[in-house]
Amino acid sequence: MEFLQNELDELKRKKICRLLETVACSGPARIRAAGDRLLDFSSNNYLGLTAHPRVLRESALAIRRWGTGSGASRLLSGNLKIHEDLEAKIAAFKGEEAAAVFSSGYMAALGAVTSLVGEKDAVLVDRLNHASLIDAARLSRAKFWVYPHRDAAALDDLLGRAKGYRRRLVVTDSYFSMDGDIAPLGRIAEVCRRRGALLMVDEAHATGVFGKRGSGLTEHFGLTGTIDVVMGTLSKALASVGGYVAGKAVLKRYLVTRSRQFIYTTAPSPAASGAAYGAIGVIEKHPEIRERYWEKIRRTRGSLEALGFDLMDSEGPVVPVLIGDTARAVRAAAFLRRHGIFAPAIRPPTVPNRTDRIRLSLTAAHTEEDLGRLIAALQKMRKRL
Ligand SMILES: Cc1ncc(COP(=O)(O)O)c(C=O)c1O
Repeated sequence: MEFLQNELDELKRKKICRLLETVACSGPARIRAAGDRLLDFSSNNYLGLTAHPRVLRESALAIRRWGTGSGASRLLSGNLKIHEDLEAKIAAFKGEEAAAVFSSGYMAALGAVTSLVGEKDAVLVDRLNHASLIDAARLSRAKFWVYPHRDAAALDDLLGRAKGYRRRLVVTDSYFSMDGDIAPLGRIAEVCRRRGALLMVDEAHATGVFGKRGSGLTEHFGLTGTIDVVMGTLSKALASVGGYVAGKAVLKRYLVTRSRQFIYTTAPSPAASGAAYGAIGVIEKHPEIRERYWEKIRRTRGSLEALGFDLMDSEGPVVPVLIGDTARAVRAAAFLRRHGIFAPAIRPPTVPNRTDRIRLSLTAAHTEEDLGRLIAALQKMRKRL
């Protein structure tokens, strides 16, 4: 097993070796790690709902009713009422006919793509799609095509060339979590319609954040109910763990009977399903949480831009601060940490070479004072780098 250590040493030398750190939550948007008290700008808990009283209550209620584990897969005795209630809630929230929940967003991606396409098909992915979508495409054994990031014209061209397949499936994130930019879903949907391709959109980072009702970017673009496959995760704004695939009722029926990731795994835990159910309820009932959140996002972005930071082509709660070099990005993250800010350096291979960055994730739980501290620390960091 010597090769393992050799490889790890090499990664360490290149400063891309990853390490786990024990983290304790010590309040809204606050963590403790290795004795440091830090403001957390790395979390995907966008709306800060992981500690919301209704979410806690629904999760606890689900444990009391159904216990701590589901005990079996959905097709055996694990199909609890909380799963069905959650699926109905997700479908209504997303404006789709039906939804199927999975034990994670990663599994939802694998489940949808590998059920829909196989060897005789082609799958076309955005170059910067999340790893789960890339892995799903590879696992499906469909012919793998990559189109340039957010480039609907190039996709159109590629679909024109990708002929002779039984099915062609286009897969894109709606909100890209490392770049904080948005796929041109209207144009992509139009291209897919015209070219007769299926479209799958991953709303992992958009659900609960974008759209008038907060249901995501499909809503924002007026595409509700028109995309073939809409997937997402319960683990970000929905304050839980799990994933979903939503669309027509026939899609759900198909996944239930065909998706190995749905069939051969234990049903999601009642606590997780209850929490996500509660979080959607909060989002539906309290639009003011999102409105205040967006105000903070706009103000923080405005301040950073005025100070001359390169925020790339981003919008919304994910704010990449471009550094462009791995060693400098690591130093920048360490500097911020010494100043009480947890904002990790994102490096290759997670992002393309020379686009190393500090990734800030703004949440509704950050106070004005927190955001002021962040901006002051970034200013100091720039002077020291
Ligand atoms: C775009 C995207 N899709 C899918 C996933 C996977 O979701 P999960 O963490 O629930 O497995 C993530 C994040 O983790 C993501 O960012």
